[in-house]
Amino acid sequence: MAKVIILLGPPGAGKGTQAVRLSAECSIPHISTGDLFRENLKKGTALGLQAQEYMEAGKLVPDEIVLDMLFDRVGRKDCRPGYLLDGFPRTVPQAEALDRRLGADTDLLVLNLEVADETIVERIGGRLQCKACGNIQHREFDPPRKQGICDACGGELYTRKDDTAAVVRERLRVYHEQTEPLTAYYGAKGLIETVDGELSPDAVFRGLAARAGCGD
Ligand code: AP5
Ligand code: MG
Repeated sequence: MAKVIILLGPPGAGKGTQAVRLSAECSIPHISTGDLFRENLKKGTALGLQAQEYMEAGKLVPDEIVLDMLFDRVGRKDCRPGYLLDGFPRTVPQAEALDRRLGADTDLLVLNLEVADETIVERIGGRLQCKACGNIQHREFDPPRKQGICDACGGELYTRKDDTAAVVRERLRVYHEQTEPLTAYYGAKGLIETVDGELSPDAVFRGLAARAGCGD
């Protein structure tokens, strides 16, 4: 049975940080819609350029664009055993489209990272990301050994364009309005488990891994 895990949570909750470890633990690919858009933008594709204005304004990219891209990605061979979704779904229509797409032979689990808005502002304010390998660090909570250089691959660290204070406020507003209702959506189906995302990265990982049950 295919295992599909949705990592839900506000911007800056630690979804990307945790998804890398959880996908290794569960041996399923990590699919981040935000990363897919950023890769497309880097390559200058039409899809990337379409998404750019929404991302830089802290708005959601329209559902049709996201769904086409996501379903194309999860239709590939490596996703047959299952996959870990980071940043998708983000609206109820996206969740409904995913439900229609998933077969009855899917084991779906939603892991919700709970983090307060003040913590998010602090986390996103100090985030650094590697241009080469995508590794995520933080100026204070996970400082690079050498300034501006990724600990994982030696690539160049940068600050995402949507990580400014004004855009973060908008991303949080959009999250509360459009994405938070998904906790009730999946709650009603009995599929959601909530994990305290305020703890250290290792403690958060232990909470997620215990609920994902991949090592069993
Ligand atoms: P996306 O890239 O998904 O951004 P996001 O949801 O806003 O989440 P982030 O990537 O900002 O945060 P994260 O939870 O991954 O946290 P991270 O691990 O980096 O989406 C970007 C944009 O794309 C959207 O705004 C939208 O425009 C568009 N988009 C994407 N998907 C879409 C969809 N489905 N529909 C429509 N539009 C879509 O951690 C943050 C920082 O905190 C890091 O510095 C990290 O080192 C640090 N940190 C992490 N965990 C801890 C911890 N436990 N303690 C201390 N520090 C920590
Ligand atoms: Mg992320």
